Amino acid sequence: MHAPTQVPVLSFPVRNLLEVEAQHDRMTALHSARVVRLARRVGRALALDPSGLRQVALVALLHDVGKVDVPREILDKPGPLDAQEWRIVRDHPGHGAELVAERPETAHLAASIRASHERWDGDGYPDGLSGYGIPLASRISFVCDAFDAMVSDRPYRSAMALGAALDELEREAGRQFCPTASRALVEVVGPPWRMLGRPRRRRSPWRTCAAPAFSAQRH
Ligand SMILES: [Fe+2]
Repeated sequence: MHAPTQVPVLSFPVRNLLEVEAQHDRMTALHSARVVRLARRVGRALALDPSGLRQVALVALLHDVGKVDVPREILDKPGPLDAQEWRIVRDHPGHGAELVAERPETAHLAASIRASHERWDGDGYPDGLSGYGIPLASRISFVCDAFDAMVSDRPYRSAMALGAALDELEREAGRQFCPTASRALVEVVGPPWRMLGRPRRRRSPWRTCAAPAFSAQRH
């Protein structure tokens, strides 16, 4: 049972940003809504206080808001991105940080939004932060973002099987993902799946052919 104060009450500036995002790309808005639900579950598993939970939820909700500056033809492109398109995509966390920084009610989220696509091992973007140099809310948002991307169909690939996605979370803990956040996500998402008795280590054919698309963090 969790106190109602843990449910984010969205301020007008946040709702406004979300409306702009949804008008630009409804798929991204729906993805962000799913990432929030996962991130809040991870936050609760890590026993964050209400303030920490709210920060995590807002960062997860707005982590992709900078994609309003990414043309739809890039977001929807079915094939690999070229170098120029990648540069535009990699700019989106910075643009998102600028958008939230412009509004006093959301300015405190700017650093975490900017860091929401950084990897634990330093190979993320835009600043190459690593480890505990990445805000906790960003680390939680990142692993939930990646997991939702893995189990969802995208224009450039099909969804990954849930068991394979859980294996990926475990395999990439300490590489792409914060180990603490990754293990917490496995704990909150994994048990219902594993109760079905499916083999945990079954390799997905998808992983063999399309892992590079995921590891390139197009989510
Ligand atoms: Fe995302």
